[in-house]
Amino acid sequence: MSTNTKKRILTGVRPTGPLHLGHYVGALENWLKLQDEYECFFLISDYQALGDHLGETDRIRNSVIEVTLDWLSVGLNPEKCSFVIQSYVPEHAELFMLLSMFVPISLVDRNPTLKAEIIQQKKSDVSLGFYNYPVSQAADILLPQADLVPVGEDQLPHIELTREIVRKFNKVYGEVFKEPKALVGRVPRLIGTDGGAKASKSLNNCIYLSDSAEEVAKKVKSMYTDPTRIRATDPGHIEGNVVFSYLDAFDTETSELNKLKKEYQAGKVGDVAIKERLTKVLNNFLEPIRQKREYFKAHPEEVRSALLNGTARAKKIAEETMLRVREAMKIAHYEDLLNK
Ligand code: TRP
Repeated sequence: MSTNTKKRILTGVRPTGPLHLGHYVGALENWLKLQDEYECFFLISDYQALGDHLGETDRIRNSVIEVTLDWLSVGLNPEKCSFVIQSYVPEHAELFMLLSMFVPISLVDRNPTLKAEIIQQKKSDVSLGFYNYPVSQAADILLPQADLVPVGEDQLPHIELTREIVRKFNKVYGEVFKEPKALVGRVPRLIGTDGGAKASKSLNNCIYLSDSAEEVAKKVKSMYTDPTRIRATDPGHIEGNVVFSYLDAFDTETSELNKLKKEYQAGKVGDVAIKERLTKVLNNFLEPIRQKREYFKAHPEEVRSALLNGTARAKKIAEETMLRVREAMKIAHYEDLLNK
């Protein structure tokens, strides 16, 4: 396991469904490298999932397991990093409540990611819990005293908020926290299979890491390409073309891909050919992940110990942090007054 000299990382995911290719390029690919260099905590934020999935306990519970399988299947190694189930560490809730005291409502009001999510999901009756999730995320980050937070670019405002909370906390109660920094992945945002700005499970426009070869082929077939192109002999456009966006993210044969792009622009290859290539590229990429998934499905005891060991490590650090926070804020500290 890691030594204390390593810098610490925390990042997480809401367990509301299986992970998709957008998660891979925007996050997991980055995490895989980080697990060797840093002491990593990967949080499955089941509390946070309640914010917009209230009552969907089965979905959240199943997703906790699906996400864990996805993580193990892509190669996150629970011997090197800690998988954490948020609700087994109720210190998250305590710190979240305390940190919310440091945040002016106007600051949350201006959070662009939160605003976009509320519009996208057509929420008319957003719960206070959902509205407050950026603050709960600050608690997630500060509880293990993370130095770095690898996230997709849509999460950057939440990291900024965390830094503001740290400054304010330290100013009011003395130096307890340090300001974490964000780390953004290689392809920060993968567009949806429908050409939408973002691949997202709620928009139903993504390819899952657990999709079968047939499902992948079907989804690629339905992808948008170049709407201005009527015949395969018309010159094609690369920009805004969903198939090429995915090829750019996953095709490692760059020179062949560049050749294909030139041919497409010259009207020498059609949509069928580029889609066939993408299907092959994606299935080659996903096949080893599928195989590992099968392995872990057949070894539930390994999944269980990954979750429980990681959570126990996080819980210990969370308890230490909360002792410092309560001490600094002088809460749960009345013995001196009572024992006069
Ligand atoms: N909001 C993130 C997501 O939807 C998950 C998350 C929870 C997170 N807590 C976090 C990310 C703390 C970074 C840091 O995927």
